[in-house]
Order: sequence, then C-alpha cells, then structure tokens
Amino acid sequence: MYESIEFNFLCLYTFVINTLEPSWALRTSVMLRKLFKDLSYRFDVSEVFTDFLDYALLVMKWQDHQRDFSYYEKKYEQRHTLFQQMLDQLSIESNNAGEGMKDALGDFFMDEISHGRNGQYFTPQPMCDMMALMTSETIENNQVVNDPTCGSGRMLLALGKLNRNAIFIGSDIDMTCCKMAVVNMFLNTMRGEIACMDALTMEFRKAWQLDYKNIGGCNVPFWVEINNKEDSFHFMNQTKSATPAVKTPVPNKKIKPVQLALFQ
Ligand SMILES: C[S@@+](CC[C@H](N)C(=O)[O-])C[C@H]1O[C@@H](n2cnc3c(N)ncnc32)[C@H](O)[C@@H]1O
Repeated sequence: MYESIEFNFLCLYTFVINTLEPSWALRTSVMLRKLFKDLSYRFDVSEVFTDFLDYALLVMKWQDHQRDFSYYEKKYEQRHTLFQQMLDQLSIESNNAGEGMKDALGDFFMDEISHGRNGQYFTPQPMCDMMALMTSETIENNQVVNDPTCGSGRMLLALGKLNRNAIFIGSDIDMTCCKMAVVNMFLNTMRGEIACMDALTMEFRKAWQLDYKNIGGCNVPFWVEINNKEDSFHFMNQTKSATPAVKTPVPNKKIKPVQLALFQ
C-alpha cells in the first residue's frame, strides 16, 4: 500500500514539474522578481541591479551616520522605497529558513540580469557544497580560505557551511560580482575580504573587509572599504608567501656537467 502511495506521489510530482510554466522553473522568488520589475520599468535592468547593490551596501554601512540616500529618492521618486522592500525580501530568502549560506542574490542575477553573458554562470550550489567537502573535510577556526574568482561568493558560502568562523577571502575582476559577494558575506556574518582585482595580473581596484562586532550579545556585521592595496589581505598574504620558507637550492658549480652528475 505504501509503495503505491509513493508511486502516485512520484507521478503527481513529475506531472507538476513537467507542466509548470518555464518562468516557474526560475530559481528566484516571484516576490523578488515583481519588486525588481516595478523598480526597473523606466531604466535598464543592469543599471537598477547595480543601484540595488549600492543601496544594500549603503544600508549595511550602518556605522556611518552621514549616509546619503538622496540619489535613490531623486532617481526613483516614490518608488525608491521598493529598494528596501527588495533588500528585506533578499534577506528572507538568503536566510534560508534559518540555515543561511544560500546565494539567493547570485540566483537572481543569473535569472534576471546576466542570462549567462560574459560567462556569468555560477557553479550550482550542490556542486559548490561537494567541492568544498572534497577540498577540505574540516576547516579550523580562523583558517584562511580563498576563492580567487569568487563570482557572487557561493563557493565561500559552501566553505562557510563547514565552518563559519574561518576567514573568507575572495576576489573577482567584475565589480558587480564583488558587490554581490560582499552582500552575501554580510548577510551571513562572515569575516574576511572581497577584492575587485585581476587574479592573474594582481591589478587591484578596491576591496571590502568584513568583520563583526558583538553589540549587546549579538554579532553585528560591518564592512569597511579598502582603497590602498597594501592594506588588502590579498597583498599581505602575497608578501608573506613571496618569501619562501625553504631556501632555494643553489646549483653546485663544482659538479661536472656529465650524465648522473645531478645524483652525486
Ligand atoms: C564561472 S564564474 C565562477 C564564480 C564562482 N567561483 C562559482 O563557482 O560560482 C567565474 C568568475 O571568474 C571571474 N574572473 C574571470 N577572470 C578573472 C580574473 N582574471 N581575475 C579575477 N576574476 C576573474 C569572472 O568575473 C566570474 O565571476
């Protein structure tokens, strides 16, 4: 009897999945998409998304009492309040029913903005989780983990599932990706740094360092902007690793250049 209930449930599930409208198959909630649509009716979607990220970062800069939101009020008029509603909705979705570490922002970006342009498809979350486990079964407190091409930061979120108290370092050449990673790190109270830089040439643009303060028994996240590359964790680490702990062996000039001389 149980088998037949299970079978019927499976049939129903397959039927529902197969008959859903394509838009339902999107990863982003209807609510988030509706708010974004209302905001972007007069503007280009990429521009509104960038404004949303800047708005989120401004809200998250709570320690600055001189924050100025007039840009949003002037540009979006009475609709500017939708930014806060969107941020609230994003926080709820990223909270993931209390578990956190969910890249709702990256999903939204892929569904509504990038559509895969410039290779902006992020690794599916289950694969990130698997790769995090394969890379490191355990992560110590304060251990540094790094994703040099972090995109929206979902690989760091996957590592965060193994230990939230690690130091998360990420970089990306794309400013929008960096801002998404900062918002994701903030929403999950993760410590570390996201740098906007070319991970191949090490050309640096700016970075955001994230930490939290214990205020009244609560860990409250905050971020600070880093414009000087010497202050960036990325370059501090590089200076350290550039000095090899083991001395480079010097070739012995006395050895005659004959076969097997290397093994003498
Ligand atoms: C396919 S995404 C992967 C993002 C993330 N690691 C993930 O697994 O979802 C590749 C990312 O690499 C970034 N990228 C490409 N070239 C880069 C470079 N030279 N330096 C830093 N980031 C780079 C892109 O902007 C993009 O966000």
